[in-house]
Amino acid sequence: MSHEPAPASAPSAASGHAVIEPLPAPLHGAATVPGDKSISHRAVLFSAMAEGTSRVSGVLDSEDVRSSIAAVSKLGAHVSLEKRPDGSLAGGITGWGAAGPKQPDGPIDCGNSGTTARLLMGVLAPWDIPVEITGDESLQRRPMRRITAPLMKMGARFEPGGRETLPVTEVGTRDLRAITYDAPMASAQLKTAVLLAGVYARGTTTLNEPSPSRNHTELMLPEFGVPTLSADRTASVTGPRTLQAAEVRVPGDPSSAAFLVCAAVLKAGSSIQVENVSLNTARIGFTRTLERMGADVSVRHAGAAGKEPYGIISACHTSNLHGCEVPADKIATIVDEVPVLALVAAHARGVTVFREVGELRVKETDRLAAVVEGLGLMGVEAYIDGNDLYVEGQPGLRAPQGVAFDSKGDHRLAMTWALAGLTGSVPVTVENFDSVKISYPRFLNDIERLAR
Ligand code: S3P
Repeated sequence: MSHEPAPASAPSAASGHAVIEPLPAPLHGAATVPGDKSISHRAVLFSAMAEGTSRVSGVLDSEDVRSSIAAVSKLGAHVSLEKRPDGSLAGGITGWGAAGPKQPDGPIDCGNSGTTARLLMGVLAPWDIPVEITGDESLQRRPMRRITAPLMKMGARFEPGGRETLPVTEVGTRDLRAITYDAPMASAQLKTAVLLAGVYARGTTTLNEPSPSRNHTELMLPEFGVPTLSADRTASVTGPRTLQAAEVRVPGDPSSAAFLVCAAVLKAGSSIQVENVSLNTARIGFTRTLERMGADVSVRHAGAAGKEPYGIISACHTSNLHGCEVPADKIATIVDEVPVLALVAAHARGVTVFREVGELRVKETDRLAAVVEGLGLMGVEAYIDGNDLYVEGQPGLRAPQGVAFDSKGDHRLAMTWALAGLTGSVPVTVENFDSVKISYPRFLNDIERLAR
């Protein structure tokens, strides 16, 4: 049980909106963040696919990961995870192994979780049972053909055929074909779906991508006894194989840490260290972007959880930030951090440009439009040219009195606009703030604790 005092900023249970109060003091000291969301999903899904009982710890307890847990339970995996004092989930997951998943007694509802829906399509591809996959309103708007197209080349069927959005019914096949696939975009979800199907296909399945996306799948599959080959923009797996139970320890989520780090950079007098956080280079591009802006940020390695490096990210307030350019081939390493980095850029001298960020249009909401709109409410000039996002910074920027941001039910936007209030001098309102439960339920407690 946590004995944290209630956050000063008040989320209203009835409406879901929150009034976010400015932090009373600079952020100081050490913090940890909950387990990495991407690694947690993979720990749950790979354990469910495996033969035997896997042991997992540090798993993020959030709505998105709960969607993966519910999905594999419905498909016949036995999940027995307990809440630990630090709020994480730990315990055993017994997979279906070579016997395969059981036919669920209804649709699998992936909630808001794109990772659950898309990875599940790869998980189900080798099994000839019809499974309907669906999700909430946001997930039902997100593109799925990027996943179904390569899986269809491998032999899986989707009904209705050629449909871009959920719900769809997948009917896999025990006779999957190995493929070499050139992905049209850098997407770890697409890469993972193809590689997971490839585990069961006869021969070598290779996925080439335009720039490197996060590589947690390539790092974790060998822990489950499936060798993978990976290089700069390519990954492959040779099947057929069966995953064997493994032990997975999930490090802290750098995408959650990014909000604490950006808050420290913006709030005068701050100095923090986020400990036990994943330092996977495909995930901590935000530290590089902040460095490019002149921010006082550094990383220190402490060890590895399996093949995942982890350590400490330190950040101090920086008063003289300057604009920078983030090149297209680095966007995959900051794909979930662009909104909060745009908020930091809004405080910097000069223009910041994020090149080729079109993928942000198809996240939980259209994050490009939302960033332009939200920064506009702060009086900041931000605009999109083609697929590039421009932010014209204003040193000394403060959110104006009475501003009300709309998170549009998107967890990363909710935390981004909350930072505008937390690091500013007047309260702000964030509509649908409760969406933080998707990835970082204790966000407000963690940040307020650092400012006490
Ligand atoms: C994820 C990959 C990224 C990221 C998402 C999690 C993953 O999505 O935005 O939050 O766990 O593989 P894309 O694969 O669409 O880039």
